[in-house]
Amino acid sequence: MAVTAQKLIEFKRQKKPIVVLTAWDYAIASILDEAGVDALLVGDSLAMVALGYPTTLPVTLDGMIHHAAAVQRGVKQALTIADLPFLSYQESPAQAMRSAGRFLKEAQIQAVKLEGGHPQAVDTVHHLTTAGIPVMGHVGLTPQSVHRLGYRQQGKTEDEGDRILHAAMALEEAGAFAIVLEHIPSHLAANITQKLEIPTIGIGAGPHCDGQVLVTADFLGLSAKQPPFAKAYTNLRETITTAVQDYTAEVRQRRFPEK
Ligand code: KIV
Repeated sequence: MAVTAQKLIEFKRQKKPIVVLTAWDYAIASILDEAGVDALLVGDSLAMVALGYPTTLPVTLDGMIHHAAAVQRGVKQALTIADLPFLSYQESPAQAMRSAGRFLKEAQIQAVKLEGGHPQAVDTVHHLTTAGIPVMGHVGLTPQSVHRLGYRQQGKTEDEGDRILHAAMALEEAGAFAIVLEHIPSHLAANITQKLEIPTIGIGAGPHCDGQVLVTADFLGLSAKQPPFAKAYTNLRETITTAVQDYTAEVRQRRFPEK
């Protein structure tokens, strides 16, 4: 049976760890879905890993919808979630509704994610969930704020940790179905996870979250550079390089195609 946002909350109650990966096109999405991931995030990290930008900021709403629709066409089971890109939701809850609505209508994505836990983000989550749109929160390191916060670990001081905890609790109260905890200390992620009824999905947040997410380009070893907390489960960069070298040699030596 297909995974829903509600099901992820049940997984937490059943203490079943939740597996999430990012996806940006049909081929990747169909492989990951068939392999059995619970949810696929069309993360705005695609700006960096698929489009070659230095940050996630340049990707547009139209660009994200284009990729989200391709991902959705490859998925049969997993819950699909798309990132609201930079400046597609920060202006007002009404702007967020229009942007989120486009993901659901034009790409048939099932849920959206937005960054931040300040009062306006919480209001926006409430506005979207009241309209029936499942929303995933994202606190800790929020890459859309790179020019203010950098990519450093968040929540290292008690004050910062408390602020992140309260943001997560407010997002739950506003109706979020799950929250990404990015690059925060493991003890803080454990505390947030224990205080929330909705699942926490960690990335660089230690082993105590209810689930984990990795950027698929990092996970597959495709990225030239990856964050310190990522784990590559294979080295596709090397595999592809070897394949290209073999092909190049065979074409140049007229060994491919065979006679
Ligand atoms: O854009 C993305 O890939 C993300 C994950 C890092 C959670 O937001």
